[in-house]
Amino acid sequence: MAASLEQLRRCHFAVDLGAARTRVYVKGAGLVVDQPSVAAVNTRNGALIAVGEFAERMTGRTPAYIRVVRPVSGGTVVDIEMAQRMLRHLLGEGMRRTLRRKTWLRAAACTPHDADPLAQRATVETLVGLGARRVELVDTLIAAAVGCGLPVERAEATMIMMCGAAATQVAVLSLGSIVNAERVPVGGEAIDHAIVQHLRQAHALVLPSQSVRPLQLALSGNGLTPQGPASAEIHGRDVATGLARSVRIDTAAVREAIQTPLTAVLDGIYRVLRECPPDLVADLVDRGIMMVGGSALLPGLDQMLREATGMPVHIAERPELCAVQGLGAMLEGRIEPLILDPLGTC
Ligand SMILES: Nc1ncnc2c1ncn2[C@@H]1O[C@H](COP(=O)(O)OP(=O)(O)OP(=O)(O)O)[C@@H](O)[C@H]1O
Ligand SMILES: [Mg+2]
Repeated sequence: MAASLEQLRRCHFAVDLGAARTRVYVKGAGLVVDQPSVAAVNTRNGALIAVGEFAERMTGRTPAYIRVVRPVSGGTVVDIEMAQRMLRHLLGEGMRRTLRRKTWLRAAACTPHDADPLAQRATVETLVGLGARRVELVDTLIAAAVGCGLPVERAEATMIMMCGAAATQVAVLSLGSIVNAERVPVGGEAIDHAIVQHLRQAHALVLPSQSVRPLQLALSGNGLTPQGPASAEIHGRDVATGLARSVRIDTAAVREAIQTPLTAVLDGIYRVLRECPPDLVADLVDRGIMMVGGSALLPGLDQMLREATGMPVHIAERPELCAVQGLGAMLEGRIEPLILDPLGTC
């Protein structure tokens, strides 16, 4: 973790800028924003038309002069100015006024595990544009581990798997730090993409841009598990004719299409385990893997990991909120500092 707990305790608000959703925690007020990281812009005059849920609903349905943009991509802020404007609107005038009152506004933000200096700088600049005089960065894996209540500060191993939209990050933690971690650029978006590609190839069907999530749910919430109906009716547009068409798809084939990106995730877990010191692996066999992030909710993913690794697998409560709640806990001072000198010799 780059920032110390003491520095984090002095922060006034914390931001988790994700590829899919933006979340903001304000000290004393709790989670005040949890909205899609989307903005709709009028291309004629550059004005912001909508942000969050409203903007996301516009995706694929806009006239030529409205563009729906995602200022965060692959876990990194790619359009700093747009990210600032989006955050300002999501926070709202009232909350912005509360923050402006602080004499020396401090912010905390989580960044992906192996974020390069440029990506970290983009996050810092985004928050500086919002008025922050100082920005503390926290590894998203540590924030999420704290948020889901893992005993990160103890001298025993815990394994966390963060299943986000853009990436899956896996880490073994001990004594408040990361012992070993991997970031695989496969997340919920890649799973959605695999479903879209499958329907295009197998059924010559183009899906409306927002219907992939409903499709996953149309597999009757059974996701990767074979329970539920063997087929489902899907509406889309024919690739060749462009006309609306409905097809009955085989849910087993969709499950198969989802399996491909998941193999990369499994490889990442194996790599982390392989390079982990044996003492820590022994701890992990009892404790297992804690899944956090929105994609942890994909039905059957936990069961698949259980079978592949032979380890216990748990899904955190509200997995998508763990990282921001962890930051919040650090801001509020609810985290015990790590005692590095138990003998009191210093
Ligand atoms: N019930 C669900 N079943 C399957 N997938 C889900 C479910 N709910 C959310 N997701 C997926 O979780 C992802 C969003 O997770 P999360 O909010 O953790 O992402 P993020 O923090 O914005 O992304 P990242 O951390 O990668 O930048 C989306 O890709 C979404 O499709
Ligand atoms: Mg995230």
